[in-house]
Amino acid sequence: MCGIVGYLGTLEAMPVLFDLLKRLEYRGYDSAGIAIAGNSIRTSKTKGSVDDLVSVTPNVHGNIGIGHTRWATHGRPTSANAHPHCDDARGIAVVHNGIIENYTEIKERLIGRGYEFRSETDTEVLPHLFGEHYCGDLEASVREALSDVRGSYALAAICESEPDKIVVARKGSPLVLGVCGSDFFVASDVAGILKYTRDVIFVEDGEIGVITGDGIRLTTLDGTPVERDVETMDLDPEAAEMSGYEHFMLKEIFEQPAVIRETFSGRVSSGGIDLDLGMDLRDVERIVVLACGTSHNAGLFGRYAIERFSKIPVVVEVASEFRYMNPIIDDRDLVVAITQSGETADTLAAMREAGSRGCKKLGIVNVLGSGMTRECECLFTRAGPEIGVAATKSFTSQLAVLLLLSVALGSDRKVLSTASVNEFVYELRQLGGNIQRVLNDAPAIKECAALFTDADRFLFMGRGANYPIALEGALKLKEISYVPAEGFPAGELKHGPLALISEGVPVIAIATRDTVYDKLLGNIKEVEARGATVVGIASEGDTEITKYVNYVLRIPDTNPLIAPILSSVVLQLFAYYVAYHRGCEIDKPRNLAKSVTVE
Ligand code: G6P
Repeated sequence: MCGIVGYLGTLEAMPVLFDLLKRLEYRGYDSAGIAIAGNSIRTSKTKGSVDDLVSVTPNVHGNIGIGHTRWATHGRPTSANAHPHCDDARGIAVVHNGIIENYTEIKERLIGRGYEFRSETDTEVLPHLFGEHYCGDLEASVREALSDVRGSYALAAICESEPDKIVVARKGSPLVLGVCGSDFFVASDVAGILKYTRDVIFVEDGEIGVITGDGIRLTTLDGTPVERDVETMDLDPEAAEMSGYEHFMLKEIFEQPAVIRETFSGRVSSGGIDLDLGMDLRDVERIVVLACGTSHNAGLFGRYAIERFSKIPVVVEVASEFRYMNPIIDDRDLVVAITQSGETADTLAAMREAGSRGCKKLGIVNVLGSGMTRECECLFTRAGPEIGVAATKSFTSQLAVLLLLSVALGSDRKVLSTASVNEFVYELRQLGGNIQRVLNDAPAIKECAALFTDADRFLFMGRGANYPIALEGALKLKEISYVPAEGFPAGELKHGPLALISEGVPVIAIATRDTVYDKLLGNIKEVEARGATVVGIASEGDTEITKYVNYVLRIPDTNPLIAPILSSVVLQLFAYYVAYHRGCEIDKPRNLAKSVTVE
């Protein structure tokens, strides 16, 4: 969703701000703007892309500025609603990510005092509030004004009377500061500034930062100084670059063998699985998984793995529903929040709701330093920055971590014998290589996808642990190609989805060898009898399947709880190539955001 950036340093600010904004494009947005500090504040904003912004912005000199990509919530995507928003009387410009919940009452009060509003946004109250409190010190006015504000924010402000500083503040929305000698960067996430520096300071909730040529000074909202060391991120600057691939999504799909090795590094060895969890889970009686989107699909898979290996009952909830459910949770529960970004507003709120009921808490998170890491102990998926809006490597690394967690729990509880753990670990250690074998088949998957470029709907079915993979296959396809796609458990076919089958409708059946393989063949027969064109995802060496389906895509034969990771990679490539053949904007699908930081 919205991205905020800022720059103060030795370079011309304008090109740096444009570059930073381009790097945050993946978060999803519909308008953009910048403001450069000087004798006056010069702003430029437009509906549309950062490229559109570049083309309408006259060359402005200055070494300090802020910028924004806006994903419309309060007010349509128009140039007037784009950030920065300004208080002209005081020469203050503000960019903001989050929602000011009490903006209506603040706005009415300010209008009563003669302030004029030019946009429909909640954000515009901020520059006017800062202006109202301004007595020559931007930091002090931000501090005072924020005590009136309810809601969430990551913000950056500049002021023409103090053209040597940027003031930032955070509550509930991500904000990171980058340091490189005398150059300072502000961004919503590390991927935005990785090209410039790996040395960062994460601003925490309830903190204000002042950036000047002398450095960064942090305080809490009540003015108490905060000491925080600069952290050096262990990330390759190339991680946020396209590196010769046509899309980030394709690059991220192809990174998966390396990602899985990283996910397993130090955790999986011939001695078993060691997650180094700083908590005792022996008394846990139930696991409640909270997540949204793709991460929710990972959670559904996690249920099969955890119940199978550890015999602990699992429920999986959509975080946006859970938070308003009055859930029955207590100290016997382990609540696991799965979130790639660590910033999804509903998942964070659901975790807080659960935590208030005294449960144990664990996050499965990709982004270091993200909001979830402040809520609970976290297991990191170590997938590296994921820029494509459609989650790929973050999903398979979530599945991998869930497998590790389930085996660790099963082994702790003596549900799994040492021999079965060793056997499973042996198979896990083949996973990176097996993903590579699936990727080597990309040309065949591309060819198969080309056959369905014009399909007007897709059905995805699977059983058992393959059911969540069918959901994820359908989600991937609809996200990036905009073709209606439904995933369902194959046993439900006759309870509805069968009505959607007519001549030529593509059905993708995940038919890898497991205990329900024969049942799935029966389901394939049912759709085939009604004219469906069936693509089967099947294990290598399975000759039976060719009698049932029109096309077969293969994965290496492996354990039935590891096979879903390989099938996921096939489905990611399938979705990618359908979207590719349809000429879709793959990395930035319409209306979607990478990280949903508002409810
Ligand atoms: C957005 C993204 C999805 C993601 C979901 C949950 O909708 O576009 O790819 O699965 O948020 O995000 P999280 O960061 O919590 O995993």
